[in-house]
Amino acid sequence: MAISFLLNGETVRVDPDPTRTLLDWLREERALTGTKEGCNEGDCGACTVMVTDATGAQALNACILLMPQLHGKAVRTVEGIASPDGALHPIQSAMIEKHGSQCGFCTPGFIVSMATAHRNGRRDHDDQLAGNLCRCTGYAPIIRAAEAAADAPVPDWVQDVPGGGDEAPAYVPGSADALAKWYADHPDATLIAGATDVGLWVTKQLRDLQPVCFLHRCDDLRGVTVTEDEIRIGAMTSMTALREAIAPHHPDFAEMLRRFGSTQVRNAATVGGNIANGSPIGDSPPAFIALNATLHLRSGDTRRSLPLEEFFVAYGKQDRAPGEFVEAVSLPRQPDTFRIYKLSKRFDQDISAVCGAFNVTVDGGRVTAARIAFGGMAATPKRAAAVEAALLDQPWTEATITAALPAFAEDFQPLSDMRASAEYRLSAARNMLRRYWLERETGAARVLEVTV
Ligand SMILES: Cc1cc2nc3c(=O)[nH]c(=O)nc-3n(C[C@H](O)[C@H](O)[C@H](O)COP(=O)(O)OP(=O)(O)OC[C@H]3O[C@@H](n4cnc5c(N)ncnc54)[C@H](O)[C@@H]3O)c2cc1C
Ligand code: FES
Ligand code: FES
Repeated sequence: MAISFLLNGETVRVDPDPTRTLLDWLREERALTGTKEGCNEGDCGACTVMVTDATGAQALNACILLMPQLHGKAVRTVEGIASPDGALHPIQSAMIEKHGSQCGFCTPGFIVSMATAHRNGRRDHDDQLAGNLCRCTGYAPIIRAAEAAADAPVPDWVQDVPGGGDEAPAYVPGSADALAKWYADHPDATLIAGATDVGLWVTKQLRDLQPVCFLHRCDDLRGVTVTEDEIRIGAMTSMTALREAIAPHHPDFAEMLRRFGSTQVRNAATVGGNIANGSPIGDSPPAFIALNATLHLRSGDTRRSLPLEEFFVAYGKQDRAPGEFVEAVSLPRQPDTFRIYKLSKRFDQDISAVCGAFNVTVDGGRVTAARIAFGGMAATPKRAAAVEAALLDQPWTEATITAALPAFAEDFQPLSDMRASAEYRLSAARNMLRRYWLERETGAARVLEVTV
């Protein structure tokens, strides 16, 4: 069955291979070659397109966006950023005026990211453009262009409304119930949420993933619900939406998510995908585990829940049966004593070498509860049980922290790999605990918060 969407304002109806990427389709079937292929893995932003759905306009990487994900949406490529009669978008004029382009290979991606940020009224240009790489111009002229165009009105022609999408193929179910039924009949299918992991299985590993099932139309799996007792996060909640929703409750979690991939990646990546992939270096699982999260799974009409840490059984092995999918993750409401430290070689758009999450409760000067979890320190995201035990019932003092440090070696025997050596990881993890204590007790400022 065909899918339909708007492409630069015109309705398109196609019946593609479900794992064909939008980038390939645009270039090969439509000769829209303005959208460039740089890395083909979501890292460089040369392939950025603007995608509008009921929630608004978002910049996404076309190289890891699979065709069925577009059903019912509006896509605008760089060819559709100027008006149909050729008038330039204010961002394009500003890029010319501020000398924002040299070789020009990255420029279409920048233009689309900037036009999307401009449409959304965003002024955090560094964050909005962290997923667009430029090797020759340098970023200052590009940021100057974004600033220069910021106050210009949004042109009518980029204000798409989503289109098409009336009837969807069965492998693109429209609700959690429909997904549960379809998946029960096809328990060996590959589920695809945001495709920021799965997209690379297609573009880099050339894997055959069929049969596949796309989750993006299951609106009832998306969103964050806050009650008096809990914060429940649907599996299809994007990292962008999680960042916004969690900020009032655990601001440090939101601040870490600013460094999760890039704008384009966060717009696509989901909470369910970050958990279900079972990666030992995923950034949200340590945070959720430290916040005492419960994972909710569903298979057909049967549901079960378990503490999130128990889901990660071993490297590449999770407690998830064929036909079972992640419905949500929930956190108890709690006072915010949460901090998370993501350590990576670059500030933006980099995978963690170590990610440490800390949630220690102190009452009357003594530690009454401690939940500490790490990514990058073991074959799975893992609690630091011996460190927690060393802190529990002890006075909340520097001496207690120092006495607890040797326990890290009981909890973790990390690997040495290209990101970090085992010794570096252990030493960084110990220093994170020290930093947590210092930040809570002395209010020490973070480097990034220091301005002149
Ligand atoms: C450039 C780039 C940068 C990245 N940076 C980071 C980073 O900083 N930190 C980080 O942690 N990750 C990062 N990632 C990895 C990726 O973005 C995350 O793991 C993301 O959360 C995956 O979510 P998704 O919706 O895209 O999952 P998908 O790719 O759609 O799926 C991932 C896996 O989960 C399964 N799955 C998805 N949803 C469900 C569900 N509801 N139930 C059961 N199974 C499901 C899929 O079958 C698949 O096995 C990055 C990826 C890229 C390409
Ligand atoms: S080609 Fe690099 S992000 Fe798509
Ligand atoms: S202008 Fe050459 S890579 Fe950006």
